[in-house]
Amino acid sequence: MCGIVGYIGSEQAVPILLESLKMLEYRGYDSAGVTVFNGSLETYKIAGMIKDLETVIPQNVTGSTGIGHTRWATHGKPETRNAHPHLSSNVSVVHNGIIENYLELKERLSGLGYEFLSDTDTEVIAHLLHFNMNCNGNKCLLDGLAETVKELEGSYAIAALCAEEPDILAFARKDSPLVIGIGEESNYAASDVTAFLRHTKEVIFINDNEIGLLRPGSIEIFDQGGNRLSRDTETIEWDLEAAEKAGYEHFMLKEIHEQPTSIQNTFAGKLSELEGTVTLDELHLDPAEIKRLRRATIIACGTSWNAGILGKYLFEKLAGLHTDVETASEFRYSNPVLCGEELTIAITQSGETADTLAAVRSSSSYGCRSIAITNVVGSTITREADSVLYTRAGPEIGVAATKTFTAQLIALYMLAINFGRIRGIISANEAKDLIVGIKRLPGQIQKVLGRKEVINECAMQFADKHDYFFIGRYLNYPVALEGALKLKEISYIHAEGYAAGELKHGPLALITEDTPVVAIATKGHTYEKILSNIKEVKARNATVIAVADDDDTEIEKYVDVVLRVPTSHELLAPVLSSVVLQLLSYYTALAKYCSIDKPRNLAKSVTVE
Ligand code: M6R
Repeated sequence: MCGIVGYIGSEQAVPILLESLKMLEYRGYDSAGVTVFNGSLETYKIAGMIKDLETVIPQNVTGSTGIGHTRWATHGKPETRNAHPHLSSNVSVVHNGIIENYLELKERLSGLGYEFLSDTDTEVIAHLLHFNMNCNGNKCLLDGLAETVKELEGSYAIAALCAEEPDILAFARKDSPLVIGIGEESNYAASDVTAFLRHTKEVIFINDNEIGLLRPGSIEIFDQGGNRLSRDTETIEWDLEAAEKAGYEHFMLKEIHEQPTSIQNTFAGKLSELEGTVTLDELHLDPAEIKRLRRATIIACGTSWNAGILGKYLFEKLAGLHTDVETASEFRYSNPVLCGEELTIAITQSGETADTLAAVRSSSSYGCRSIAITNVVGSTITREADSVLYTRAGPEIGVAATKTFTAQLIALYMLAINFGRIRGIISANEAKDLIVGIKRLPGQIQKVLGRKEVINECAMQFADKHDYFFIGRYLNYPVALEGALKLKEISYIHAEGYAAGELKHGPLALITEDTPVVAIATKGHTYEKILSNIKEVKARNATVIAVADDDDTEIEKYVDVVLRVPTSHELLAPVLSSVVLQLLSYYTALAKYCSIDKPRNLAKSVTVE
């Protein structure tokens, strides 16, 4: 969702900016633009894709300082005039975030004679910066930007250029991600590291309310009070290939196939099957504190929320810990009853979801301790939460979450086993069984991937349907929710995920011979119950696709299609069933020629409310 990039160095800026913007395409956007210093500030922008932007930039544009942007429309339609950069005479600005007081600022600036050419909130930043530099004393770009951000309410990551200071790129951040890449005699700014991973892995994550400037060979960062900050650099572990397709037709397919390795990375070094323990030292949690816990609240959105439902069942079963799961966008405006001896667990693959961040801040204000489960090192949530459990799944570029979802599930299993052992709810032997089961999952996922042709055939058989239902009980309920979310997100087929027992309370009215029903029917204590639900929908002529264990010889009698998963520990089957449903969605979207990695209207990282 919106991406900013900046480059200052000795090479031509345009190709670097375009390549960086392409790396940010996955975040979601509808227009794009760049400003380059070529003797003066030259700006090119367009409503459309980066490839369209390339066609409007003349070949002869040179210059080694520039900023660029991909915009996902919030204020104003996706039109060229609303695309960034936004200009005010000698300054150019790109912005990620939302300026909440822009109408008030716009009125004031209009009164001062500034002419607005767009409907965006960002244009006020450009004019305000110009005003602060030129009419409010005579300030340099950095001081002008410092003055400007004092007046902004909302969220922002800003990169700015001024025609009179061509060797400087200024930046500022509040509640929107911004990271600096450190090259040799060149520096980069971007919304995320993938933008400049080709050039450098040495980075500095900019914190909220920090401001600074880049020169080709130096970086200066200041706090709100203007004090110079000394910041350590960090090295990104991801390789560029991790952010490329590596021969797969889509990132989503590549990321589905990465799961045997990605989940292994999530649990590497943490599981001891000999002792039946899970070690999570990075959480710095005191066992006494874990024992005292009375409640956990899981906060998340979308796929991460679906993972949270599984987390609730696991914490309650394995750790005897009452757990609520809250949609972050609702939680932040509710009146939660929380107290100090409670734990908040924020699940967010990006670590930048605005609603999840706000909900964590809200829970912290009640004195709750917080843990973040995230995939992105250095993301905002890692600074908001008291401790962090990284999923280490590697960069996920496809908008549809796949490998980060299964990695979140693994993180939740580990947390639940760790808590369960400390709280004395599960024995070492029970923990050992689960640990052995978790370690088998990579091989079992590989087997599921080996069956993708069967899943593809099934997807093609039903790709012309308008409605799909996904049903499951207990741990398979969140799998059903996630299966439905995945299908609707990338294939645009209307899909509903339901707790199977709820069907008869309304949705059964929608079941006809034209409604495929996917029943997640792996063995467990609710198996007989899901069989009854399958019979209910079969009686209404639905076609039933079951996800079932390899050793289930009964299921075929009741359903039309069976998609098999290797038999696993009952609690772990959701990981395998989820991979089946990811492939089902993928092949359905493929059959429908959908834009799989960048579905319409969606963004990878939802940094606005
Ligand atoms: O980065 P987060 O995990 O916080 O993102 C939450 C949702 O926006 C995300 O899971 C979304 O639902 C995905 N596109 C689903 O595939």
